[in-house]
Amino acid sequence: MNIIVPARLNEAKDTMILLDQTLLPVEKKFIEVSKLEDIWEAIKKLRVRGAPAIGVAAGFGIYLGVKDSKADRFQDFYEEFMVAKEYLASSRPTAVNLFWALDRIESRLIREKEKRIEEIKKCLLEESEEILRQDQDMCRAISEYGLSLLKPEMGLLTHCNAGGIATSGYGTALGPMYLGHEKGYNFKVYADETRPLLQGSRLTAWELNEAGIDVTVICDNMASVVMKEGRIDAILVGCDRVAANGDAANKIGTSGVAILAKEYNIPFYVLGPTSTIDMNTKTGDDIEIEQRDSKEIYNGFGRQTAPTEVKFYNPAFDVTDHKYITAIITEKGIIKPPFTENLAKLFE
Ligand code: MRU
Repeated sequence: MNIIVPARLNEAKDTMILLDQTLLPVEKKFIEVSKLEDIWEAIKKLRVRGAPAIGVAAGFGIYLGVKDSKADRFQDFYEEFMVAKEYLASSRPTAVNLFWALDRIESRLIREKEKRIEEIKKCLLEESEEILRQDQDMCRAISEYGLSLLKPEMGLLTHCNAGGIATSGYGTALGPMYLGHEKGYNFKVYADETRPLLQGSRLTAWELNEAGIDVTVICDNMASVVMKEGRIDAILVGCDRVAANGDAANKIGTSGVAILAKEYNIPFYVLGPTSTIDMNTKTGDDIEIEQRDSKEIYNGFGRQTAPTEVKFYNPAFDVTDHKYITAIITEKGIIKPPFTENLAKLFE
């Protein structure tokens, strides 16, 4: 597989290079950002998106946000860091990887407090690069665990995009598809279009097709038909935050797919790194769901598709109740119900 890293640092220029995912599938264009405001905007507007990739972008983002600080006392530097951290943290509320990455960089900062400020800055850069590298290892491990649950020739369904461009490696939900493809598994993948921003048809279909994987795009309201027709043997989705009881937030529409899967007796797998599991969030009810601009519904792609005088409701994510989830696949292994008990063991 040709791995695309959607967010990385250009060390020579101290800029971040981002694949602008809003332009896909028409244009594969990388943009360069260095100002905190532009990094915030890139996350908010989904130029960089997908929970793990948002975490990586936040890591580099916070480094870029403080690297030019003139502070020479730790306390002053720390205060500047915290302002930048809170600003980046305000970009999107649901994917916990954003907060996880920012907290991780902050912990490193505190650990290095005895060093000179210029040395501390280098440590922040090192930590953000480590987040990216670990993300790649994590994708590989998730792909292997995921593939162990699948068989050649299976029909697979996925929702949104939890692929290579949502991570720095193979992706999470799409990882087993890539690995299986390398081993000649010949999967038939169905990609839900994923309204309103079409991450399924614009991104998942694009990247699977680039890799030579058999992919069929369906509108979201066709998922039930392909399940009923027996075309789907397993469903693989990513996640933005998993609560301690196994409830999983992912792109809006995921929970409906999970409910259908139960009806048709199809295994429903949630794939994500342990950095997406938030043991401080007890249940899905405690997960903040991002509400987005209604324009994404009535004028998403340059054409008005609803009267603007009516009301709109545009939650970007939903929570799949743990009772619909067959297993949660992480880089540390496959977690089966009872999730409260087994997730707690994982973090022991
Ligand atoms: O709004 P998005 O495009 O950032 O939503 C992305 C998803 O819901 C993904 O499924 C999730 O972040 C997992 S990505 C490996």
